[in-house]
Amino acid sequence: MTPDSIGALVLAGGKGTRMYSKTPKVMIKILEEPMLYYVYNSLKPIFNKNIWTIVGHEAETVKEFFPEESKRSVLQEEQLGTGHALRVAWKDILEAKLDYLLVINGDTPQVRSEDLQVFIDKCTKAGEVDLAFMTLELDDPKSFGRVVRKNGDIRAIVEAKDYSEELYGPDPREVNAGVYWLKVECIDKLLPQLDNKNKSGEYYITDLVALAVANSQKVLGVSSGEDLSLMGINTPQELVAGEEKIRQDILKIWQNEGVFIRQADSVRIGPRVVLEKGVDITGPCEIYGKSKLAMGTVIKSHTKILDAEIDENVLVRSFSHIEGSTLGAGSSVGPYARIRPGTLLHEKVHVGNFVEIKKSDLKKGAKVSHLSYIGDSEIGDNTNVGAGTITCNYDGKNKHKTIIGKEVFIGSNSSLVAPVTIGDGALVGAGSVITSSVPEGQLALGRQRQINLPRHKPE
Ligand code: UD1
Ligand code: MG
Repeated sequence: MTPDSIGALVLAGGKGTRMYSKTPKVMIKILEEPMLYYVYNSLKPIFNKNIWTIVGHEAETVKEFFPEESKRSVLQEEQLGTGHALRVAWKDILEAKLDYLLVINGDTPQVRSEDLQVFIDKCTKAGEVDLAFMTLELDDPKSFGRVVRKNGDIRAIVEAKDYSEELYGPDPREVNAGVYWLKVECIDKLLPQLDNKNKSGEYYITDLVALAVANSQKVLGVSSGEDLSLMGINTPQELVAGEEKIRQDILKIWQNEGVFIRQADSVRIGPRVVLEKGVDITGPCEIYGKSKLAMGTVIKSHTKILDAEIDENVLVRSFSHIEGSTLGAGSSVGPYARIRPGTLLHEKVHVGNFVEIKKSDLKKGAKVSHLSYIGDSEIGDNTNVGAGTITCNYDGKNKHKTIIGKEVFIGSNSSLVAPVTIGDGALVGAGSVITSSVPEGQLALGRQRQINLPRHKPE
């Protein structure tokens, strides 16, 4: 068995009817990543690129999100069951000349790479296994396939709907986890024999077990005891419970790495987030996507961060939203700031309360302290933007740029109507509406001069 002679197949074609969602089940998110992300994450260290995926319901949505993995996706146009899914993929599996194939349900996001490796090792040590599967023990076996044994030997997996005590004895605690290790040569002979004569009218992958036993093949059920990480996710309730477990596991990793996590019960950190030692986070707070937070960064409560790169010693005050942006070392943001995608704050920039910044570049030491909207703009070193300043970047059809030089002072409540450039060292008087560019070092007053008139009091 060489690394090239083993592969994995993820069954991700089903609709997930029990989820009551328009989104295909494997794309429903856990800590802002689709369920399928976690399954791939566990498979990659073992199978590298030898991973095939059955897609079916909303196949395009799945493929678009995972362009790399979709290179080996196989379309199951009609979802006629997990056994049918395997049949649809079979041509590709044979062409790849694999000796063994691991099949895994796409709705098992909690499964760990280490546990898959242990399972494979057990199968390999047991000699030439033809078919093996992982089992777990549950007090309530719910809708899981029941594992039927006789004198300890595997006889069959019987789906919950088809289980009868008369035929198979008392309901067992041992159930099928939906992870299979298949010898390709053996399954090739059994696959055509699958039928759909059962209560669901579906082709079950699990029927391969009884077929293999009947053909005197070597079949193994590998028990993982009560390890709940093997639970499949079929209902919203199961998803929320699974997400909570994954959330706690991620927090534990960062706590052990030396990150301060205060009010940990309400801190949610996605699996792709990277935190340096000494980062200080207070919940409730959410950090997702490929966010990266450097040493000394402090994140106060009620903050949401997605795909942001935050350099050393940044302070994010409460109730701020940061997305798709880079925050330079020593900057501070919030409270109640919204930093939208495409924003770059250089070193020591200050963005204060009720400020929205979109797709803008704020150079070293720039300050926008209160109640402003800055969009499609460039703001130079040490420039101060006064309270209530708005860059009017949209003319109803197109977006335009506002370029502000260094050491500029924009007086409060100014509107900068883009496209417009304010030269280095210029000053804009408070309350101005600036519609044409201001040369370097000039004072611009875009408003009517004040006049004082006698006051007429009513008689
Ligand atoms: C399945 C197993 C059951 C096991 C449980 C573990 C079968 C028949 N039953 O039941 O024994 O205890 O998983 O979680 O396999 N899928 C397709 N194409 C289809 C149908 C399903 O790709 O035509 C995919 C789904 O997207 C899903 C996976 O296969 O990721 C499993 O399907 P699901 O309907 O969740 O099966 P369970 O009822 O959970
Ligand atoms: Mg399932």
